[in-house]
Amino acid sequence: MKIGVLGSGDVGKVLAKGFLAHGHEVMVGTRTPLKLKEWARDNTKIPLGSFADVARFGELVVLAVKGTAAMDALRAATATNLAGKPVIDATNPIAEAPPNNGVLKFFTNLDDSLMERLQREFSGACFVKAFNSVGNACMVNPQFKGGRPTMFICGNDEQAKGIVSGILDQFGWETADMGKAEAARAIEPLCMLWCIPGFLRNDWVHAFKLLTQA
Ligand SMILES: NC(=O)c1ccc[n+]([C@@H]2O[C@H](COP(=O)([O-])OP(=O)(O)OC[C@H]3O[C@@H](n4cnc5c(N)ncnc54)[C@H](OP(=O)(O)O)[C@@H]3O)[C@@H](O)[C@H]2O)c1
Repeated sequence: MKIGVLGSGDVGKVLAKGFLAHGHEVMVGTRTPLKLKEWARDNTKIPLGSFADVARFGELVVLAVKGTAAMDALRAATATNLAGKPVIDATNPIAEAPPNNGVLKFFTNLDDSLMERLQREFSGACFVKAFNSVGNACMVNPQFKGGRPTMFICGNDEQAKGIVSGILDQFGWETADMGKAEAARAIEPLCMLWCIPGFLRNDWVHAFKLLTQA
């Protein structure tokens, strides 16, 4: 597929390389291509563009920008370029405040989530929450003794979730579909839980697994 990655931080870069390695065509969106001069030299098969260029290019779009900037980045990408497309939302609504004993602060609450806000404003796009509850080092081809880790996803569009589940399978994950967009209220805070061992013990290599009877 043609994948447009909005965001050039660690997540955007890791996912872009992962998509390329798994046979997709990828473009990365940034406001500041100059900052990525060296990275672009090492990754010549991944062109850079503006958020709008990249959203237009992608058959599937990945949102991997700072949570506080997610709305602005999508506005720059434009609703027209996103219409009808699956949008993997890897963002977390992390507030501009330090963690408390390793617990991150969010600018949302338990009755609201960032993905619902984005879905409301960009109603033509098909948001699927994914990749937000694991560190970027483990996003592509994760290797754990306990086997495939679980990626919790949610979103209103079943077809978009099917496409994202296929990508997760390709990347070495099992998928747990938690339902509609409201489930992002539960999936986004998994990031808080995931980060605690990192902040408290500098342990950043782990992932969640859902154990079931079947
Ligand atoms: N780091 C992780 O391991 C990890 C894991 C799971 C989820 N996440 C989530 O994934 C997202 C990306 O995280 P990250 O660590 O890769 O990097 P980040 O520093 O959170 O985000 C970097 C990206 O945000 C864009 N950005 C920043 N301010 C902006 C603004 N005002 N308007 C438009 N775009 C803006 C930057 O644009 P430019 O390219 O123009 O600089 C850059 O592409 C975050 O929401 C984070 O919570 C991170």
